[in-house]
Amino acid sequence: MAADTNTPAHVAIIMDGNGRWARRRALPRHAGHRSGVGAVRRSVELAAERGVKYLTLFAFSSENWSRPRDEVSKLMSLFVEALQREVDELHRNNVRLEFIGARKQLSPGLVEKIEAAEAHTAGNTGLRLLVAVAYGGRWDIVEAARSIAARAADGTLPVDDIDAGTFAAELQLGGLPDPDLLIRTGGEQRISNFLLWNLAYAELYFCDTLWPDFGDEDFDAALAYFAQRQRRYGHTGEQIEAAG
Ligand code: IPE
Ligand code: IPE
Ligand code: MG
Repeated sequence: MAADTNTPAHVAIIMDGNGRWARRRALPRHAGHRSGVGAVRRSVELAAERGVKYLTLFAFSSENWSRPRDEVSKLMSLFVEALQREVDELHRNNVRLEFIGARKQLSPGLVEKIEAAEAHTAGNTGLRLLVAVAYGGRWDIVEAARSIAARAADGTLPVDDIDAGTFAAELQLGGLPDPDLLIRTGGEQRISNFLLWNLAYAELYFCDTLWPDFGDEDFDAALAYFAQRQRRYGHTGEQIEAAG
């Protein structure tokens, strides 16, 4: 289906609620993470169908390293397994898969799978799927600042030339457009250190559905919510209407 003008080009999702989904079924938390992979698959398909161009999924935050060691290691194994299982299908569907986050913190085995998946799908021209693993918004901004400072210190970037564009280009999402719509499942209404810079003007949609239960109806409800928003970027509503 072609995207109409009210379809967000870039959707970001904080996939929350796996642990509670499992607990409600008296299952270990890990069962919730496993079940969450199905919701990822459905969301990718629906995003592509609805004409979304970029989908950025928060899979593991900088702060999630603080979870029990067993949960973290099972999650990392799940990432490897899911990559192995899903990449061919993504490729068949013309999806370009990329990862953002502190790759240096991941195991060599996972990094190898990530790089292979990125290389395998690099030429695809359909949906761009970005998965945030070991990602934190503050980390992202600090890394960008570090790189800008290095260029300023070695004289290749005059300090007076540093502006928002210089900064945005150094961030993990680089030249991609900012997310238009942020969805968070699981009932919490917070950003949890996701894309702090890039979400500046995103429309925010929170729903109680736990991530493993997130389906087409929930995604369409979020898109319908987005379609009704008037995005003003500081202007008045009248200015926006006049601009048509
Ligand atoms: C989100 O689900 C997945 C990750 C953060 C890795 P949670 O594991 O946070 O699930 P809840 O919030 O405990 O239900
Ligand atoms: C945010 O969920 C991170 C991901 C979904 C990957 P959390 O469950 O870690 O967030 P908090 O701790 O409730 O803020
Ligand atoms: Mg959570």
